[in-house]
Amino acid sequence: MSRPQRRSVILGTGSEVPAKVITNHDIEKIVDTSDEWITVRTGIKERHVLEAGKGNADMAYEACKRALDDAKVDPKDLDAIIMGTVSGDYTFPSSACVLEDKLGARKAFSFDVGAACSGFINALAVGDLFVRSGKANKALVVGSDALSRMLNWKDRGTCILFGDAAGAVVLGASEDGSGVLSTKLRTDGSYVKMLYVPAGGSLKPPCPETVRNDEHTIVMNGKEVFKIAVRSMEEISRQALDEAGVSIDQVSLVIPHQANKRIIDALASRLGVPMEKVIVNLDKYGNTSAASIPVALDEARRAGRIQPGDIVLLNAFGAGFAWGAAVVKF
Ligand code: UT7
Repeated sequence: MSRPQRRSVILGTGSEVPAKVITNHDIEKIVDTSDEWITVRTGIKERHVLEAGKGNADMAYEACKRALDDAKVDPKDLDAIIMGTVSGDYTFPSSACVLEDKLGARKAFSFDVGAACSGFINALAVGDLFVRSGKANKALVVGSDALSRMLNWKDRGTCILFGDAAGAVVLGASEDGSGVLSTKLRTDGSYVKMLYVPAGGSLKPPCPETVRNDEHTIVMNGKEVFKIAVRSMEEISRQALDEAGVSIDQVSLVIPHQANKRIIDALASRLGVPMEKVIVNLDKYGNTSAASIPVALDEARRAGRIQPGDIVLLNAFGAGFAWGAAVVKF
């Protein structure tokens, strides 16, 4: 008889969005845009932004506390904290370290994974490896970003899109056939400048000129990102399903990265999934980068949309370009 396979399972989920809301009508007063244009072209109605004086890890802490409560896991029992983010509290050290201290997770090793909007899928893939290999029994996987801190409020092509949020899952080990069935990750670095923040790194350190030229804010070729996102997310979703040995008809719910309703519609149509099986919450939050999937996952679970035995497909695409998918059985 073959030994049952050890897998990582999601024991609990949590999320946090900051209290401050910016509506499309608020943005109409800042740049030349309209609620109608933003709604029709993106599906976004409002987004939440982190209040001044708070950092990404403050938001992530709230999400993690909820995930740990939900999982009934004490922070002291965590072996690993893996945080998908590109907007840490500091350039270094990692926000996962800040989080570890806030949570009092004294035993855990912690680090950030920088994969922008695919940050959560990448962090989940890493956490899954640690748990599956037996190097960790309990891992906290976080997706948290505060991209409002990097927006150019003169650029209507980007400032309308992003919001701040945090989401987290607690991974444990199981041998009952449930858990993370597959993860697939891809990147193509030839597209780095399609979506990036030009200054503030080692290539172009901060100086008065970079600040004057708005080079510390997001620059994006939206049309190009859009086109490649749909194609890539479809392809990698099919690969993740193949690896898991699951057909698209067996998937109860698709939780895609929340960047644009038109991207999600096109992806669902290409995958042949009816929209009733697709989670969309970007109307409330905009694109929250690494947080979008764990926030949507947490909301879906708490709304009773995920039941034991359900198979969920997660997929994301973003800067790098970096994209990925995961198939999870609850
Ligand atoms: O997380 C992953 C990363 N990001 C994404 O996935 C974003 C992917 N891209 C998109 O979501 C879309 O490309 C956008 C929402 C960013 C833009 O929508 P689009 O349909 O691709 O518009 P466009 O950039 O082709 O612009 C069409 C027109 C242009 O005017 P002209 O040249 O036709 O006169 C833009 O200047 O719309 C104009 N425009 C706007 N008008 C009103 C661009 N942004 C705005 C705006 N309000 N906010």
